[in-house]
Amino acid sequence: MNIVILTGAGISQESGIATFRDADGLWNKMRVEDVATPEAFARDPALVHGFYNARRAQLPSVMPNAAHLALADLDARWQGGLLLVTQNVDDLHARAGSRRMVAMHGALRRARCQACDAVQDWDADLSTATPCPACGAVGGMRPHIVWFGEMPMGMDQIETALAACDLFVSIGTSGNVYPAAGFVAGVRGRARTLELNLERSAGTRLFDEARHGPATSLVPAWVAEVLAG
Ligand code: APR
Repeated sequence: MNIVILTGAGISQESGIATFRDADGLWNKMRVEDVATPEAFARDPALVHGFYNARRAQLPSVMPNAAHLALADLDARWQGGLLLVTQNVDDLHARAGSRRMVAMHGALRRARCQACDAVQDWDADLSTATPCPACGAVGGMRPHIVWFGEMPMGMDQIETALAACDLFVSIGTSGNVYPAAGFVAGVRGRARTLELNLERSAGTRLFDEARHGPATSLVPAWVAEVLAG
């Protein structure tokens, strides 16, 4: 059986990372238009760098939770096809040990040069004064993050996995942002579909089954079911 798992900010919430659209979410503090679009970066790069520098700086102080660890355990033990598609830009799935994974919105701990396109691992702050380690250009370094209006990453690999999947599981996402929110519509009828989320999402009715509760209880229980056959 081939499994595709989609995760969103809800799987990292219990690790202490804010989601986007919950009451205390990031989009209740900042506007997408000000910090998460190419136009915002062109208009005020210092504000955008500050937003991502703060989120990047939080990563060393947070840990993968039981949901991340359960998915990593599944990755290691599942003999069939498996692809974890995360919308998250934190590093918690990788730190938990997930390997068969695509970060479709990029990663906080990577930076890209707009002059030469080189992508680097990056843990420090970024600014308009940061020179590119590859080409030396100054002023062109940006977070290797997919902003609104930009193409998500890894879509060929994701679409190939979705075309072959028998089970699609959506975890911790509100189903508001495409193309991820459209994955379930593309597989339903052909694959079994399951939503694991704290509450109903915008797409709950598209799933064969929906379980609502915290990811740290729902995900380990589901992984145990799958591994028990
Ligand atoms: N356990 C399970 N689900 C949770 C938990 C939890 N502890 N806490 C919150 N959730 C759920 C919320 O109910 C909500 O449905 O996680 C979802 C988070 O939704 P969003 O904040 O919209 O985050 P996400 O769906 O990942 O956003 C998608 O939008 O802003 C862009 O690029 C950004 O990747 C992000 C994309």
